[in-house]
Amino acid sequence: MRVISKKGFVLVVASGFLLLALIYSWCPGKKPSMDIGLKQRGHIENLLKKRNKDILSSYHDIPYVLKESVLRELANGTCECQADENKINLQLPHILFPRVWASNLNHAYLESDSDPEGVKGRRDKEYSSFQRRSSSPADVLIVAEANSPLQYPTQGVAVRPMKTIIIPGLGLKQDPRPTHTVNLSVTMGTLDVAATVVGVSITGEGQKTMELSSNILSKLNRQLQFVTYTNTLFHPKTADTVLYESGGHQAAFTIKVGHSAIPKLYNSGTNEGYNISALVTIATKTFLRYDKLQDLIDSIRQYYPTVLIVIADDNEHPQPVTGPHIDQYIMPFGKGWFAGRNLAVSQVTTKYVLWVDDDFFFTESTKLEKMVDILEKTTLDLVAGAVREVTGYSATYRHTFSVDEGDSEGDCLHIRQGYYQTIQGFPDCVVADAVINFFMARTDKMLRIGFDPRLSRRGHLEFFIDALGSLHVGSCSDVKIGHASKIVLPWSKSESEKSYDKFRYSSTDSEGRMHTEVYYFKNRFKCMSSN
Ligand SMILES: *[C@@H]1O[C@H](CO)[C@@H](O)[C@H](O)[C@H]1NC(C)=O
Ligand SMILES: *[C@@H]1O[C@H](CO)[C@@H](O)[C@H](O)[C@H]1NC(C)=O
Ligand SMILES: *[C@@H]1O[C@H](CO)[C@@H](O)[C@H](O)[C@H]1NC(C)=O
Repeated sequence: MRVISKKGFVLVVASGFLLLALIYSWCPGKKPSMDIGLKQRGHIENLLKKRNKDILSSYHDIPYVLKESVLRELANGTCECQADENKINLQLPHILFPRVWASNLNHAYLESDSDPEGVKGRRDKEYSSFQRRSSSPADVLIVAEANSPLQYPTQGVAVRPMKTIIIPGLGLKQDPRPTHTVNLSVTMGTLDVAATVVGVSITGEGQKTMELSSNILSKLNRQLQFVTYTNTLFHPKTADTVLYESGGHQAAFTIKVGHSAIPKLYNSGTNEGYNISALVTIATKTFLRYDKLQDLIDSIRQYYPTVLIVIADDNEHPQPVTGPHIDQYIMPFGKGWFAGRNLAVSQVTTKYVLWVDDDFFFTESTKLEKMVDILEKTTLDLVAGAVREVTGYSATYRHTFSVDEGDSEGDCLHIRQGYYQTIQGFPDCVVADAVINFFMARTDKMLRIGFDPRLSRRGHLEFFIDALGSLHVGSCSDVKIGHASKIVLPWSKSESEKSYDKFRYSSTDSEGRMHTEVYYFKNRFKCMSSN
């Protein structure tokens, strides 16, 4: 009896502790809550804005003469998409005389909507939240004023979240005076000193604002070499603006706050040469063309017997595609083109993925080693080859994009045939923004961009538009693949024919409307032009 009650007592006490521990772990309590709402940023940014306004609007009274030729090149936020005027000869082939066409997306998308104002409002709201999420305090304009006695780092200061660094390069250069004083203030962390110098007085250590003063300038400068910054407001990637002042002089600079990028490295299992099977996976999507797909597989096996082929299949009655090194993924019926690409690419475990259509076939000119070589030796993320049509014509389909800043109606997208430069050491290769549908890419880069699965029946440029600014794209005309179908690839069709299909004939069809929605709403374009 006694023993039992003793045991019982121990149990009660133990479970009491357990309960306390549980409650404690449930309510850690001590950490302050963090405001990560999408609001406008604080007073330092406003101060910088006001300062910039004062600096940039000086010398009003001095007359000047405008230089039209340069003025035309400056973005002024009033972009337009203009078509070439229909000149005399409409019969001439487009290839010889490419014309620019233009499409008003605002018009095309909104006119067929029952609630155009509602759509506009939703787009504006999404856009302003996008801007707030994607802007960084490090993007704010900072002007260094003339004759400032302040010395400070203009860029290159970075700290990991919640960590401490020494702020390098702080100093003060001024004539002797009874006391030399500087102030530092930050918003997302605290300031301190890693060492103290005798003869310098400091207030505000461990706080957001710190004042340092001394009657000997060299001592103050020595002390400034020990100033530290500690980030206390967690954000995975942002920046803190430091305000540095002395007397009437003010300077500002940013400290980048963020985790470092974690590498994603692939082990290709060999140190010499390129083992294509270990480096590359071939991805394709099939729909109603099993005979063509089998020809593709047979042609691949002639040259690359062990490279893995990933097939996304959204046929209504899927047939098994068998053989070594083949993975077939069955999808719901008719999920579509971009959904299939997403699925296939998501299953790739090699460093590179090669995209081919199911009616392509490998030939002796389909040298994947060349594509791997240029991706290994340059900063390109994606490199395309050429597609040889049955007619013998090889298409490379190279395009460049430019986006002009517009007004509240949206921006302007301009697509032009052509490329930027040839690539040194690879005379058959160029840099562009969009390329043909036969390309090899870094798998991790491609996964980060993804394919918009709403584009089910066509889609090509849309991927490259989403990739603009994050994917370095190239095209090499000396790596060729065959195209079995007699039908010309839609993206080697002239852009004007395509746009004609897209914006005139299919304006009633929901797929056409989806394309317009992607451009109008998702990418926030008001118009586009192309040749
Ligand atoms: C803006 O620039 C375009 C040329 O890019 C020009 O045609 C237009 O007149 C300019 N608008 C203003 C308001 O300066
Ligand atoms: C430093 O900041 C304090 C408090 O904000 C202020 O009283 C002082 O005048 C400032 N000193 C300088 C040199 O700007
Ligand atoms: C190439 O890679 C494949 C797949 O990882 C592997 O099975 C094969 O042994 C490798 N070949 C050589 C020559 O290393």
